[in-house]
Amino acid sequence: MRMKAAVLQAQGLPRPYAETRPMSIEEVELAPPGPGEVLIEIAAAGLCHSDLSTIENQRPRPLPIIIGHEGAGIVRALGAGVTGLKEGDHVVALFVTSCGECRYCVRGRPNICAASFDTRAKGTLMSGARRLKRLNGEVVNHNSGLSLFAQFAVVMRDSLVKIDKDIPLEDAALFGCAVMTGAGAVINTARLRPGEEVAVVGLGGVGMNALLAAVAAGASRIIAVDTSQAKLDLAREWGATDCFLAGNADCAAAVREATAGGLDTVIETAGTIPAFELAHAITARGGSTISAGLPNVAAKFSYLHAALVSEERSIRGSYMGSCVPNRDIPLLLGLYRRGKLPVQKLKSGFVSLDEINEGFDRLAEGTVLRQILRPNG
Ligand SMILES: NC(=O)c1ccc[n+]([C@@H]2O[C@H](COP(=O)([O-])OP(=O)(O)OC[C@H]3O[C@@H](n4cnc5c(N)ncnc54)[C@H](O)[C@@H]3O)[C@@H](O)[C@H]2O)c1
Ligand SMILES: [Zn+2]
Ligand SMILES: [Zn+2]
Repeated sequence: MRMKAAVLQAQGLPRPYAETRPMSIEEVELAPPGPGEVLIEIAAAGLCHSDLSTIENQRPRPLPIIIGHEGAGIVRALGAGVTGLKEGDHVVALFVTSCGECRYCVRGRPNICAASFDTRAKGTLMSGARRLKRLNGEVVNHNSGLSLFAQFAVVMRDSLVKIDKDIPLEDAALFGCAVMTGAGAVINTARLRPGEEVAVVGLGGVGMNALLAAVAAGASRIIAVDTSQAKLDLAREWGATDCFLAGNADCAAAVREATAGGLDTVIETAGTIPAFELAHAITARGGSTISAGLPNVAAKFSYLHAALVSEERSIRGSYMGSCVPNRDIPLLLGLYRRGKLPVQKLKSGFVSLDEINEGFDRLAEGTVLRQILRPNG
């Protein structure tokens, strides 16, 4: 079938994207779903900073490619052998497809499935299949097995979690990345307990979800840190107890002073080395710095080895919020349904496919949280 899509044709173009247009909006050919695959109509897809990082070439990808990895939609057709889904079902898409068989999957860590990482670099679905072509026959790569900046997508069955139909799809879309990543970092990776204190460094779509989850988890004190005063003001409205403006040398000292030497748990959700270093600097002796931000693939940080040992510090990565999606998406949707995880507040407006380059200008400027693409109008 033919559909309209945003095809990323070059990485690293300068801004404004409204002028350089890294994504061209065009008709492409989408093949029907093969064995184990599902055709979905995309109802809503979030514009995440990880997509921006791909546009910026922080993460090289095979080109041309259709990006977009946070979304929700409606099942329109099933390939051979697909079980547990039927036409018309509502689904959330997952940016890690899990194989269920590798050493990570069998240990309950599908978020770091080995097979998924291998196929991401190749730009195929996990089965190795390709379903996307330009009208001139040129192959178009899949992104994270999803490619959601399009009207439809063919994805593996294991890239989908079925959800109840009463949940608005534009809210459900956020659960695929921002909610799992931010809330999961607090609930799964940090295992924050009621009454504990936490700091969140970087209050974008992911960080605000960490903040909302910290409120839901009953944190007694939530320190919000960002370079944007507007984001801090919003964070205070949504439950932060203390706010600190990053970007000046005194920030870490001010947080340490306000917390008698730092916090036991600090979550970094900005994706830059300065933000990570700040997060580490405000972590207390014996505490954990949990990083969910994704900087340039080659970026490195350094720390004092002796202090790591003598102060018993830990530094942990958190990918997709350490989530087991089939367990955690229903759990997080349950919190949302009860009003305990009001992620709908994160929506900063809607864009059409034709406006997607402009949307990434706004994300890069830091003036929005989650913009939602509605590729089918
Ligand atoms: N671990 C995962 O599975 C996963 C999933 C999705 C996104 N990410 C990554 O998480 C990061 C955040 O994504 P997002 O969509 O929320 O981005 P965003 O652009 O919406 O938010 C980033 C926030 O960080 C703030 N910031 C920038 N530099 C800072 C600094 N030095 N100190 C404090 N705050 C600073 C910005 O002002 C902004 O509010 C990105 O790096 C993204 O690639 C990781
Ligand atoms: Zn994302
Ligand atoms: Zn696996």
